[in-house]
Amino acid sequence: MKYLLTAMSLSKKYVQTQGFFSRRKTTINALDNVSLNIRKGITLAVVGESGSGKSTLARSIIRLVEIDNGEIAFDGNDFLSLNSSALKNSRKNIQMIFQDPYASLNPRMKIQSIMEEPLLIHKVGTKQLRQKKIEAMIKRVGLDFYDLDKYPHQFSGGQRQRIGIARALILEPKLVICDEPVSALDVSVQAQIVQLLKSLQKEFGLTYLFITHDLRIVRHIADEVVVMRQGKIVETGKTDIIFQNPKTTYTKKLLASIPGIKKTT
Ligand SMILES: Nc1ncnc2c1ncn2[C@@H]1O[C@H](COP(=O)(O)OP(=O)(O)O)[C@@H](O)[C@H]1O
Ligand SMILES: [Mg+2]
Repeated sequence: MKYLLTAMSLSKKYVQTQGFFSRRKTTINALDNVSLNIRKGITLAVVGESGSGKSTLARSIIRLVEIDNGEIAFDGNDFLSLNSSALKNSRKNIQMIFQDPYASLNPRMKIQSIMEEPLLIHKVGTKQLRQKKIEAMIKRVGLDFYDLDKYPHQFSGGQRQRIGIARALILEPKLVICDEPVSALDVSVQAQIVQLLKSLQKEFGLTYLFITHDLRIVRHIADEVVVMRQGKIVETGKTDIIFQNPKTTYTKKLLASIPGIKKTT
């Protein structure tokens, strides 16, 4: 099986009522017939301006959002028709890293419990084995054994994202969906986290769906790129080719907005 994930013709509409007293409704096509394939072991970046549907795409793949239409297959299996126990098992294989690790880490839980929780949910190992995994993973992401006894607020933004990464990887997933994982961080910290994600990918043979509005990062991490605009895919291809020879005006504009990059005309 060449593709780890295939998504076919995904569609998702949101209906919003405008204003409190108004009955006027607007429909947003957050996903409009979106199809993509992710080969095993690569990083596929999804880029596009804010509101283009990137997070909706990520959330539909892990079924945090129920799509209106379309098909998703993970590792060759139809992901949408799975029963609850098969879904639980597949969920273990697809983990997500969020933009704001502070919002996604329970502030009342120590790092120890934050990392143990997914292992308990999926009934992994004995207490001893879980502890070994937790300690190895926290070290692997550049933190210390003693950090397990702390709370999320005791860490910097970059460190919190390291914890978010550790928690996502503790279940040894196959696919990791990163939704703007470094967008909230300082530029110097961004580089460190991108570097960490790259080395973890190599070590664990991970496949990444990497969502960002920042094309500078795409160049460093992605093998292939999908460009989204208003819920549609407007362009797709190998990273080098997209950067050297963008086909659509929209992609050209996105590239031209990168500081310090030569403008394509
Ligand atoms: N829960 C929701 N209810 C209504 N509209 C939503 C909801 N989530 C997203 N949208 C709308 O769908 C569009 C795509 O949003 P999103 O997927 O978050 O884009 P991106 O991640 O690229 O910024 C936007 O217009 C957004 O306002
Ligand atoms: Mg988003």
